[in-house]
Order: sequence, then structure tokens, then C-alpha cells
Amino acid sequence: DLPSSTQDPKTIEDNSPVYVGREEDIKKSQRMTAVVHDREVVIFFHKGEYHAMDIRCYHSGGPLHLGEIEDFDGQACIVCPWHKYKITLSTGEGLYQSINPKDPSAVPKWCSKGVKQRTHTVTVKNGHIYVTLSKASDFKCDSDFYATGKFKVIQRPS
Ligand code: FES
Repeated sequence: DLPSSTQDPKTIEDNSPVYVGREEDIKKSQRMTAVVHDREVVIFFHKGEYHAMDIRCYHSGGPLHLGEIEDFDGQACIVCPWHKYKITLSTGEGLYQSINPKDPSAVPKWCSKGVKQRTHTVTVKNGHIYVTLSKASDFKCDSDFYATGKFKVIQRPS
């Protein structure tokens, strides 16, 4: 079966790749949004690599496709425009800075809260970009809460 963006929306457990757009377009825009089997995702093209993740921030549903990408501790992160949470592009980990209150001279250290934002797999074939959803049944992710129902933001063509 050829992957197609026009097939019926299915559940998250449909893990077949879905066509989301052309490589030449995302290389210009650096990011795009797409609906993949009824799940809204954002795809970033950053420093020659593709990254896809749930579009709504795990914290409170902020629109990650409107955030800036910045490096923290050597890791490229999307910074949520709502409360500035930092999420690594490659793994979806939430990063935070911690400081030892007993050591006033201490420099804040970047730490990981673990995977908070669900990331998905991007593949490119003949200039076409496909996204394959990660399996929601394999592990729970905080961003799952905002990936369904009333939190959806992308307008579908009618
Ligand atoms: Fe993203 Fe709060 S909603 S940081």
C-alpha cells in the first residue's frame, strides 16, 4: 500500500507512514504541521535533520509549531511560546535547570525530566516526507493528553 494523506483518519495505533509534504518546501520553511492518522504533529527541519513531535506542548497544550529553536546544554530544543518549557527535538525530553541551594556558587545544571513530548519518525523518499507515529501503547507520554479531541488546532480542508 502506498502511504497517503487522504486515507481515513484512524487511531494512533495506525503506524503506517503518512505523506506530509515535499522536502523542498520544508527546507525553505524549516517547519510544517500535519495531521497524521488524526494526530496533529509538527515537523522541524533543523541543521539538516528532521524531527517530528506532537504539536501541543505536554505542559499545558501550547503551540510548539510557533516556538523558537534554541540550544541548551548542547541539545537543540523547541521552546514553547507559552511558558518557555524546553523540549529536545531529538527525544522529546523536557529539560530544566536545577541548582543546589546549599551551594551558592553552584552553576545551574541542565537536567532531564524524561520523555514528555511524543516524538515520531520522519522518513524521506524521493523528495517526499513521511511521518510514522510512535506507538502510543508502548509507553505513556504527557503530550498524549493534548493530542486528542478539543485541543486540536490544525484546520482540515473541507
Ligand atoms: Fe508549553 Fe506551558 S504550555 S510551556
